[in-house]
Amino acid sequence: MNLPIQPNDIQAVIEADRAHVWHHLIQHKPFETIDPRIMVEGRGMRVWDATGKEHLDGVSGGVWTVNVGYGRESIANAVRDQLIKMNYFANSAGSIPGALFAQKLIEKMPGLSRVYYSNSGSEANEKAFKMIRQISHRHHGGRKYKILYRDRDYHGTTLAALSAGGQPQRVDQYGPLAPGFVMVPHCLEYRSQYPDAESYGLAAANAIEEVILREGPDTVGGLCLEPITAGGGVITPPAGYWERVQEICDKYNILLHIDEVVCGVGRTGAWFGYQHYGVKPDFVTMAKGVASGYAAISCTVTTEAVFEMFKDDPSDPMSYFRDISTFGGCAAGPAAALENMRIVEDENLIENTQAMGARMMNNLRALQDKHAVIGDVRGKGLFIGAELVSDRTSREPAEEKKVQAVVADCMAQGVIIGATNRSLPGFNNTLCFSPALIATASDIDQITDSVDKALTKVFG
Ligand SMILES: Cc1ncc(COP(=O)(O)O)c(C=O)c1O
Repeated sequence: MNLPIQPNDIQAVIEADRAHVWHHLIQHKPFETIDPRIMVEGRGMRVWDATGKEHLDGVSGGVWTVNVGYGRESIANAVRDQLIKMNYFANSAGSIPGALFAQKLIEKMPGLSRVYYSNSGSEANEKAFKMIRQISHRHHGGRKYKILYRDRDYHGTTLAALSAGGQPQRVDQYGPLAPGFVMVPHCLEYRSQYPDAESYGLAAANAIEEVILREGPDTVGGLCLEPITAGGGVITPPAGYWERVQEICDKYNILLHIDEVVCGVGRTGAWFGYQHYGVKPDFVTMAKGVASGYAAISCTVTTEAVFEMFKDDPSDPMSYFRDISTFGGCAAGPAAALENMRIVEDENLIENTQAMGARMMNNLRALQDKHAVIGDVRGKGLFIGAELVSDRTSREPAEEKKVQAVVADCMAQGVIIGATNRSLPGFNNTLCFSPALIATASDIDQITDSVDKALTKVFG
């Protein structure tokens, strides 16, 4: 993993980027006077930018994606070999890696049995929404069309996924949105809405039931939740929450859709986030870590019971799932995903995630003792957030500019961390950590040491 990095003189690339590339989720005005950052090379946990500066990546490619680390030749080779043999055929036919990866994935997901391929997390979620809508039409007279989503959760950037968006700063100005999506309250105990509740977990889940009763249970077809909310502040569910959510879904015949786009494939120290909580989902969607960014792939996984509902009447030409994902037929995705999964297994990366996650959690809790600005630390595995507050008693969120200054100071130290970003007005105050699952103890310590220095510098 320690290959020499070639110096790169790429001023022309920087100018081309400045002139023509529109980057995601960023204001471009500053690029009129400063250079856009170009990432040039990656090895293991580290990336080098166009200035030659080395960074330890504490967020797996910025958005919790490169789970097995950079520069994996075996994945590149698997993709290359597959592309030469058979790069693409529309997904009405199968492919060798598509079949083999589906089989391997399902081995990790007892109770589920079918995989629908597409290319992004947003798209995978849209497929589940469409399946729920079609089930409503075919089996409930079109009545059970509403899909519930949760405050602070994010399910993607396309218009229907945004309509299920619990982060107002991602949604505002993009309306009108798709109808039939209804929000339920969040479950972040640190920002409790039910101060008198005996069990916060039960109260937060019961709040979902209240929405269902208000809307009419016979109008609600699906509930879409992140197992641990990611960009909305790294929210681990409170005790008792998931058990009650499951009961509610069972009681009202509501299909449970778990969005594992961030948590899936090892990130939380289990294959899937929901597996920590003993829930039985009807749909699981996943994307980022499935092939660690070596190819674009996402999966909508469901049960045989759901699948059966789409083939129960072959005489009806409208009865099956009439969806198409052109690039869901790219064989590079499942080829990369198969090799990615082999690496996670053979290198014991789930176990490493548990151990390194515990270390990171301990380090951050120690920083919490030292820095009053850390109000709360939460997460699971290598998926952790530290919420910054200007006052521990009132829990007033730290100023966004200062949170960003901490991120910038870590960057200057050569460590990339994240923060909740254009998500929740007034609450973009959680530092985010999601290093690759290959992180070592010294990587973890380097990340948390840089946070320690940055907090001292920014907050004193
Ligand atoms: C939980 C969750 N779901 C869905 C998405 C959307 O995935 P994509 O950007 O691949 O469309 C994201 C992206 O960050 C996410 O965090």
